Amino acid sequence: MTVLAIESSCDETAVAILRDDVLLASEVASQIALHAATGGVVPEVASRSHLRMLRPTLNEALATAGIGLGEVDAFAATRGPGLATSLMIGMAVAKGLAVGFGKPFLGVNHMEGHLLSPFFGKGGPRPAIGLIVSGGHTMLVDIADIADYRLLGQTVDDAAGEAFDKVGKLLGLPYPGGPNVNKLARDGNPKAVDFPRSMMHSDDFAFSFSGLKTSVRYLLPKLADFAVADICASFQEAVVDVLVAKSIRAAKSTSRDTIAVSGGVSCNTRLREKLAEACKKAGLQLLLAEPSLCTDNAAMIGYVASLRLAAGESSPLSTDIDPNLRLVA
Ligand code: KG4
Ligand code: ZN
Repeated sequence: MTVLAIESSCDETAVAILRDDVLLASEVASQIALHAATGGVVPEVASRSHLRMLRPTLNEALATAGIGLGEVDAFAATRGPGLATSLMIGMAVAKGLAVGFGKPFLGVNHMEGHLLSPFFGKGGPRPAIGLIVSGGHTMLVDIADIADYRLLGQTVDDAAGEAFDKVGKLLGLPYPGGPNVNKLARDGNPKAVDFPRSMMHSDDFAFSFSGLKTSVRYLLPKLADFAVADICASFQEAVVDVLVAKSIRAAKSTSRDTIAVSGGVSCNTRLREKLAEACKKAGLQLLLAEPSLCTDNAAMIGYVASLRLAAGESSPLSTDIDPNLRLVA
């Protein structure tokens, strides 16, 4: 089965083509340069760019895959969560193609795309603890099977990626903060500042990162006394310590033997390093997607679509976008 998937939930216009479980093409037109001027995503600017970029990105994906639209068996698009004006563009195009070619359509949950991305090319989903760390979400999910998820806990304020981005902005780093904080942290001392590890020992699987961001803000008047690389490394260490501790505890408390980590922040090299160490020590298997599948992309949407279409699912054309779509009802 050949599936064409579109992702346009936020600021990446992405198109992927999968044939069974082989990725034939995954094109991503990033809007980073566009949003750097404002230091964040302006929804109308994002949606106008999706409108402009979707057709060339789609053509590029078809050329890379070496197929024509007539060879596609189903069309999928991200249904939510995300920016309404961004979501509607990918959904409208995927539905239009489905109608035009008389093929099924499927709306996909962006968070399920992230959640299952570490299993792609590794034998498919299996029971595990899923840690999703993206710009908008931080959650721990108990995965029993495809579509059988239990939310263990999530952030009560900022998402991990959001904290990285806000701290990057406070420190005057280029947009987006996450990868730039990560880069600078390589030359910094993670013990230079003892930042709080909020909720690390709380008796639940909730997270909180806004206090940590405020602690960085309090340091700003004394910035001259610190090396920016040390602040980045110390901040990053605090985020990573909490994410690692809670993921390991979630696996132990549910007796799962695998942790599957996804979302843009799972590109973070220190997070990958410390998770690998902790999983080895705890006898757990760690599954990480390759970096191009961690940040927003359409391959992960196509992967979920393939799994669900194979199980006989499709969406009626009346299916609308849902900016607040949840992973678990
Ligand atoms: O999953 P994603 O592409 O978009 C959402 O669905 O939100 O995640 C983007 C987030 C941004 O906050 C970005 O700064 C962060 O992932 N990110 C990183 C790194 N690479 C991307 N954060 C920390 N370290 C990185 N290397
Ligand atoms: Zn995402």
